[in-house]
Amino acid sequence: MNNPYLPRPIKIIDRWEESGIDHTFRVENDMNLIGGQFLQLSIPGVGEAPISISDFTDKYLDMTIRKVGKLTDGIFDLQAGDKIFVRGPYGNGFNLDQYKGKNLVIVAGGTGLAPVKNVVNYFYNNMDLVKSFTLIVGFKTPNDILFRDEIKKWSEKINVVLTVDSADESWTGETGLVTKHIAVCDMKDLDNTEVIVVGPPIMMKFATIEFVKRGLAEEKIWVSFERKMSCGIGKCGHCKIDETYVCLEGPVFNYVKAKELID
Ligand SMILES: Cc1cc2nc3c(=O)[nH]c(=O)nc-3n(C[C@H](O)[C@H](O)[C@H](O)COP(=O)(O)OP(=O)(O)OC[C@H]3O[C@@H](n4cnc5c(N)ncnc54)[C@H](O)[C@@H]3O)c2cc1C
Ligand code: FES
Repeated sequence: MNNPYLPRPIKIIDRWEESGIDHTFRVENDMNLIGGQFLQLSIPGVGEAPISISDFTDKYLDMTIRKVGKLTDGIFDLQAGDKIFVRGPYGNGFNLDQYKGKNLVIVAGGTGLAPVKNVVNYFYNNMDLVKSFTLIVGFKTPNDILFRDEIKKWSEKINVVLTVDSADESWTGETGLVTKHIAVCDMKDLDNTEVIVVGPPIMMKFATIEFVKRGLAEEKIWVSFERKMSCGIGKCGHCKIDETYVCLEGPVFNYVKAKELID
């Protein structure tokens, strides 16, 4: 019988820096994936943690990892050619059909852009599938901006609002929290608008409230959670909020359900 806890090795093909503490690791892919799913990534004897799949093809998948602790320190010591261990994929991911034919608005804060990057790329490559597409993405400072080249590329077809909380005078772009930009973004056809919000808990809380204030129905808002997890398969209860197992039912939730779960 297959042991669901048993990680398997996969090869790192490439890695590159996104910001000082965020690097993208590209590894070989032999899995069927849905954007928004995550893997349990591990190094034997060091640790294991859930990491979102930021993009994928049938040959490779990318994970954008922030160096914050024991495991991620260990991962940052690895190079192309080295092996890393994975379990998964886990989680429901985003149902792309939900957004087809709609005005799509994606709001991402910081590393929250990673789990929705594949969705952004999908509709960027298939703009005929949406009525309109706005991406509002916020970072703390210009130094924290991830996926710079892609954001520049996306701006050619998507209405991109790139904002930072604070910057010196050398920054000529937008400033202010994403909520400031949600308050003024073009949202006339509310019945045909779907929104995705991913980021730190505080940002998700106030961004979703802002959309509801603008008159958007709660069932048109989708969020993805980064909850502390352990098993990833509904056994340990680490991710449980009330009766909800985030690892099994999420990490993508409709706001009607998510509003009870947002801290
Ligand atoms: C679904 C999901 C997707 C994720 N996707 C990504 C991703 O794409 N990229 C990414 O970089 N990270 C992602 N994360 C977060 C990542 O799993 C954590 O940052 C993980 O803890 C890193 O492991 P580590 O051993 O390096 O750090 P740790 O040693 O676990 O430390 C990480 C940080 O969390 C703090 N911490 C550790 N344990 C606890 C605790 N029990 N309670 C409160 N704080 C604690 C530490 O002080 C430190 O600041 C995701 C998490 C989830 C649940
Ligand atoms: S992580 Fe163990 S039950 Fe969800």
